[in-house]
Amino acid sequence: MDNLKNDILRRFLNVFWLRPETALWRTIDALVMRDFVFDGPSLDLGCGDGIFSFIRAGGEFDYSFDMFKSVSNLDKFFDKVDIYDHFDERLVNPVVTMRPDYVIDVALDHKETLLKKSATLGLYKKLVPHDANKPLPFEDDSFNTIFSNMLYWLDSPEAVFKEIKRILRPGGKAAIMLPNSTFLEYSFYYKLYLKTKDPEWKWLERIDRGRIAENIKHAYDAKIWEESFKKAGLKVALHKQHLSKTVIEVWDIGLRPLFPVLHKMAGKLTESDRIEIKKEGIDLVLGLVEPLCSETWVTDKAYAPAFHYYLLTK
Ligand SMILES: C[S@@+](CC[C@H](N)C(=O)[O-])C[C@H]1O[C@@H](n2cnc3c(N)ncnc32)[C@H](O)[C@@H]1O
Repeated sequence: MDNLKNDILRRFLNVFWLRPETALWRTIDALVMRDFVFDGPSLDLGCGDGIFSFIRAGGEFDYSFDMFKSVSNLDKFFDKVDIYDHFDERLVNPVVTMRPDYVIDVALDHKETLLKKSATLGLYKKLVPHDANKPLPFEDDSFNTIFSNMLYWLDSPEAVFKEIKRILRPGGKAAIMLPNSTFLEYSFYYKLYLKTKDPEWKWLERIDRGRIAENIKHAYDAKIWEESFKKAGLKVALHKQHLSKTVIEVWDIGLRPLFPVLHKMAGKLTESDRIEIKKEGIDLVLGLVEPLCSETWVTDKAYAPAFHYYLLTK
């Protein structure tokens, strides 16, 4: 398990080297769903740039690749702009050192730039641009497996749960990740400003950059999520919780405030200097982040984890 953890964390740090807190979160996600098997036909619902699913599938990139090369609008970083919503084929050029163990039949996202990035990975057979707030563009009983970690970004999770039930084959499984109500409580911006409206903490808005206020539309206790599954006709085959209070607090700030400057510095390096410094950074940070990479965190026993992982059937 420790070797597996170290290996996955290293792969994520290689891609997210300027944001190790993101590598921490994604490693724990990959560990919590390590037993999930993508039986075809399979769907990655809200695939983003595909990097998470690629590494989760056993893929690995060369040191020359990272997700910070094809970004834009860095000068608007603190104005809630999605800097990753950008595709430049000269810059998105992933060198793959290990192919994923399987392919995923279909990937869906509403951002064309992210789908283009996903297309460079050789992980997906078909990419579908679509707004998941609308009915999903698939026939009834289309998929044996569905994975999604973005349903809480949508207007109505219940509507999309019904869609998942419709497109899932009998005997099929959906693996989904959803925030617990505690997730908000562990965010400094929510706890100190959104809840209190105390002007002293308004500056935290610049750190949040719209994540909590705009993207996290739904964060509930298990009971509420499970009522919603039931209404949609879905059954819970497995429920686990992950992402401890400590992990969320580390992730909540991380290197985020420094990111535009770190990105500028990295951009001024030659390719060989960039790789050399990146390798050094990964080795340095690995020892600091790995102890936090636990599905549950011993000192957080009194606090419920921030996320749910569900396996659903119909
Ligand atoms: C938290 S990211 C997860 C991406 C990817 N699954 C991963 O693990 O890296 C959320 C993704 O949902 C997508 N998304 C948000 N709202 C959407 C919508 N209404 N329809 C389709 N995709 C959407 C975003 O573009 C983004 O790629």
